[in-house]
Amino acid sequence: MREKIKKIWPEIEWIKDNDLKEKVYLCWEYAVENSVLSTEDLEKIPFSLLIDNCNVTFMNHKRTAVHLSVEIANIMQKNFGDEMKINMDILIAGAILIDVGKLLEYEIVDGKLTTSKEGKLLRHPFSGVSIADRFGLPAEVQHIIAYHSKEGDLGKRTVESIIVHHADFVSFEPFKDAVTLRLYNCTQITLIILKKHSENLLNLSHLCSIQKFGD
Ligand SMILES: [Fe+2]
Repeated sequence: MREKIKKIWPEIEWIKDNDLKEKVYLCWEYAVENSVLSTEDLEKIPFSLLIDNCNVTFMNHKRTAVHLSVEIANIMQKNFGDEMKINMDILIAGAILIDVGKLLEYEIVDGKLTTSKEGKLLRHPFSGVSIADRFGLPAEVQHIIAYHSKEGDLGKRTVESIIVHHADFVSFEPFKDAVTLRLYNCTQITLIILKKHSENLLNLSHLCSIQKFGD
């Protein structure tokens, strides 16, 4: 299993602290062992079940969020210097683990991948924290997992958590909003046509009533 995890997550080796690195491996091994999905599946399944015709895979999306997190952190550290202290090991471990709980969210019904009842009741920020706690990940990493999604919007995030949250959403929202935007435009066009049409009808009936009155 270790080799399989290394194959999908070469980024785990970016973590310098060996104890932290080992714990991240253990979390992913546990999640895959308790999931209906294999590591091969993760390279194939769409990253979201909410987006129609999604061709971006789960692993592509998750790796992108990790790479973006590291790039953002590096630029912030370079430009802000001592004004911005970022723990890169914590940031990388958190970014790699934000969706580890998703592996427990899925089930296969009639050959189709779907979200299980447990997955709906306890979304992956919660199941992810549970996995991370099982293997003794520090609170700073559990915080990134817990607060990475919309559930964390009501709380305060650490700098590492803010970066990972935005890196995750910036690689998700363009897909979601592209669909929303298209729908919005269609609706808007329909409303314009209806409004124009109803205005014409009103004008027509107004003209008719004037003519009628004139008669
Ligand atoms: Fe997530």
